[in-house]
Amino acid sequence: MVEGGLEVSIAVFASGSGSNFEVLVEKSREQAWPQEIALLVCDKPGAGVLERAERLGVPAYVFAPAQYPDKAAYEQDVLQLLRKYDVEWIVLAGYMRLIGPTLLEQYPWRILNIHPSLLPAFQGKDAIQRALEYGVRWTGVTVHFVDEGMDTGPIIEQKPVLVEPGDTLESLQKKVHFVEHHMYPAVIRKLLTGQLIPPRDR
Ligand code: GAR
Repeated sequence: MVEGGLEVSIAVFASGSGSNFEVLVEKSREQAWPQEIALLVCDKPGAGVLERAERLGVPAYVFAPAQYPDKAAYEQDVLQLLRKYDVEWIVLAGYMRLIGPTLLEQYPWRILNIHPSLLPAFQGKDAIQRALEYGVRWTGVTVHFVDEGMDTGPIIEQKPVLVEPGDTLESLQKKVHFVEHHMYPAVIRKLLTGQLIPPRDR
């Protein structure tokens, strides 16, 4: 997308293995999205997602939040980097950290998250395991705009996943990831191409 003559771009934030990151990069290229995934921001030195970024040729930046006096200072450094890349959208893909006011104020309705449950059920960590332990018949995946809470914020799309008798953490994770890998790129593409309009722009 071109705004004021500037190419704007997408930053993916991730902390873990990065399977969603990889699918997003692949789909963005295959489908020639109007904005490219210009960089990866990672808050976990050594995370698996870094190896994927290298293989895919996406510049990766690792920040160690513990080395900053507070979240504001950490996010200020991240923000400087995002400005260099003219980032318009921040896409969280397994980024296990709350976004603070420094980034939220600069990116209203422009930060997305994917969560492996039907929110508001099972917010936070280990959502798939907790759904399995609870004994729900259905769990699923939610894509939503990010606010200051943990896996809160206006919901954009949800898809259900059936928990079948005999499902293990591994089998349920596999089903949830399968849904995530189709759903997240599709939602982002709709937002980038104007098929879905964030409330800020209506
Ligand atoms: C995904 O299942 C994502 O929904 C979840 O982390 C996983 C990352 O997997 N996110 C959250 O739990 C956010 N609260 P990946 O590293 O293979 O993409």
